[in-house]
Amino acid sequence: MNTTAAPATEDGQGASPKLALITGPSSGTGREFARLLAREGYKLIIVARREDRLAGLAAEFPDMAIRPVIADHSTYAGVAAVADLCASEPLTLLVNNAGVAHYMSFAQLPADKASELLHVKVIAPTMLGTGERMFENVR
Ligand SMILES: NC(=O)c1ccc[n+]([C@@H]2O[C@H](COP(=O)([O-])OP(=O)(O)OC[C@H]3O[C@@H](n4cnc5c(N)ncnc54)[C@H](OP(=O)(O)O)[C@@H]3O)[C@@H](O)[C@H]2O)c1
Repeated sequence: MNTTAAPATEDGQGASPKLALITGPSSGTGREFARLLAREGYKLIIVARREDRLAGLAAEFPDMAIRPVIADHSTYAGVAAVADLCASEPLTLLVNNAGVAHYMSFAQLPADKASELLHVKVIAPTMLGTGERMFENVR
């Protein structure tokens, strides 16, 4: 990825900047991905539960349009709210990065952790990436 390029635009000729939604940018890989995209000039919607971490990331790029959205992907309501955003915003890129790891055998996984795992790693990526509008925007 080119991190020194001029701000990303739809047509490379001064149209509105590209817009990316990234889940899980409050730490790890997602945070670095968000930084790379911000340096490329993308407008960002950054989604996670920890508001302070999202605010800190946005503060690193005071001149960029970075919109924090607080959502919990372990709940259906949280996933649905972000899926609505994906369907309604003119996204050019979706980075489906949020994840949890429960390191234990499946048979020992408590029901609440199994539910969290399925919501964050299966239901959320599926719902965020589907929908006619989404396919039109990010094809
Ligand atoms: N690191 C590895 O070795 C490894 C290996 C294989 C796959 N992966 C996958 O790669 C991705 C990034 O890994 P990483 O190590 O960078 O992860 P990480 O540092 O643990 O970050 C996980 C991100 O997901 C978000 N997240 C977790 N649960 C969430 C929830 N219920 N609702 C909304 N957001 C939630 C966290 O934000 P909040 O806590 O602020 O909500 C955080 O920003 C993950 O999907 C991970 O499963 C990682």
